[in-house]
Amino acid sequence: MKEPHFGLMGLGTMGSALALNIAEKGFPLAVWNRTGAVTEAFHAAAGDLADRITPTATLAEFVAVMARPRSIILMVPAGKAVDDQLAALALLLDPDDLVIDAGNANFHDTNRRQSAGLPFRFMGMGVSGGEEGARHGPAIMAGGESADWARMAPMLQAIAARAEDGSPCADHMGPAGAGHFVKAVHNGIEYADMQMIAETYGVMRDGLGLDAARIGQTFGAWNGGVLRSYLIEISAAVALTRDPISGGPLLDIIVDAAGQKGTGRWTVIEAQNLGAPIPVIEAAVTARNVSARRGERALGQAVFGALPNQDGALVTLADLEQALIAGKILCYAQGFAMMTAAVAEFDWALDMPAIARVWRAGCIIRSAMLNDMADALAEDPTRNLILAPYFADTLRRSLPGLRRVVATAALQGLAVPALSAGLAWFDMMRIARGTANMIQAQRDFFGLHGFERLDGIAQPHGPWAQAAKG
Ligand code: 6PG
Repeated sequence: MKEPHFGLMGLGTMGSALALNIAEKGFPLAVWNRTGAVTEAFHAAAGDLADRITPTATLAEFVAVMARPRSIILMVPAGKAVDDQLAALALLLDPDDLVIDAGNANFHDTNRRQSAGLPFRFMGMGVSGGEEGARHGPAIMAGGESADWARMAPMLQAIAARAEDGSPCADHMGPAGAGHFVKAVHNGIEYADMQMIAETYGVMRDGLGLDAARIGQTFGAWNGGVLRSYLIEISAAVALTRDPISGGPLLDIIVDAAGQKGTGRWTVIEAQNLGAPIPVIEAAVTARNVSARRGERALGQAVFGALPNQDGALVTLADLEQALIAGKILCYAQGFAMMTAAVAEFDWALDMPAIARVWRAGCIIRSAMLNDMADALAEDPTRNLILAPYFADTLRRSLPGLRRVVATAALQGLAVPALSAGLAWFDMMRIARGTANMIQAQRDFFGLHGFERLDGIAQPHGPWAQAAKG
C-alpha cells in the first residue's frame, strides 16, 4: 500500500467514524490511539476498509509511516489533551506537516495555539453531525490559513455531507479560531433549537394533556412543513419510541436534567464579550442549568403547589407550530448578528451565506429553512435576518402564534423561556423609541454619566438636583 499522507489521532466515537469515512472516500490513512488495544480493535472491525488504514502503536510509528507532507486530524477531548498531543507532535513533525484540531475546542484556545509558534502548520476545525455525520458526511467549519485549507479541501469536501444541490458542506471560515467560533455559534443555536422544541413539547404535555405518541405524531407532521429539520425529525422519533422495559413511552421515564459539555456556554460568554444580544441561546443554556437543579425544583413544587388552572383558552397545535417557526427565525437572526459582530471585533471575513450553506446538511441544526437563510444573507450579509423580506413576511404570519403561546404559557405557569426571550427581543427590535432613555436619565442622575437629547441640543447633565428637591 502507498504510504498515507493523512493520519488521525484519537479513535473515540467521533474519531473512529471520521477515520472510516476518510478511508471509504479513498484516502489511505494512519491511525493512532493512546490505548493501543483501541487501535487494534478499531482496525479489526474496519472490514473492507481495513487495507486503507495503517494502525500504529506509538506516536513515533504513526509519524514514521506517513509520507510528507503529513496532514494529521486530531480528534481528542478539547482542552489539555489537545495541548498534550500538540506538544508530543512538536518533537516528531516537520515544518510542512499540518495538524488539524477537529474537536470542539474553545476558539480562544485555537487562536492561542495558532500563534504559539508550533513547529508545524496548524488548523482548528469544527465538525458537526454526531457519530452518524462523522461516519457518512459531517458539516465542516475550518479555520486556519488559506493555503492550508486549499491543501485539505479536496479530502474534507469529499468526506463532508452534501446539500440537496450537491455542494459539499465543508468550507473555510477564516483564520485561526474562526472555524471553532462558527462551530460554537452552531452549538449555541443547537441548544436553542432543542430548547424551543422541548418547550413546545412541554405545552403539549402539560397544557394540552397530549400523550407522547400524539406529540410524536405532531412533530412528525411539522417535519413535513416549514420546520423540516433533523432535530424535529428526531424529536418525533424520540416521542414515538417505546421503552422495552416498562412498555410505555421511553421519553416519559427519562430524567429531566440536561447535560452539556460547555460549547453553548462559551457562545453565551462570547456574545456578552461582543455586546451581541443572543437571548434565545442564553435562555437555552440557562434552561439546561435550571434543569440540572432537580432537588430544588422538587422543593419548589412542594412549596408552590400545582400549576395554575389549565382550563383557560388553550393554544392550538397550529399556534405551537407557528411559535416554533417564529422562534427559530429570531434565534438564527441573533446567531448571525453575533457572527457579524465577531467580524468587526476579530477582523475576520466570515461569509454569512457560506455559513448558512455549510449548515444545510450533515450538522445537527440542518434544516430546510437554512436554504432560505442562505438566500436572504446572500442578498445582504449584514442585514438582520428579521429584516429580510422573506423572513419579515414569515414572521408577520407566525408571530401571532408565538404571542398566544408565550401569553398562554405565562398565564398557565408553563415555562417557555427561549420562546419568551425571542419574543421580548423581537418586541425591542421592532420599536424605534425604546425605554433606555429612562436608564440614561438614571445613570446621569446618580453618576453624572451624561446623555444625548433627541433634539441634538447639547446639555451635559440633567437638572436632577432641582428635581430631587421638588
Ligand atoms: C455536533 C454537536 C456536538 C456536541 C454534542 C453534545 O454538532 O455534532 O454539537 O459537537 O458535542 O451535541 O453537546 P452538549 O453535550 O454540549 O449538549
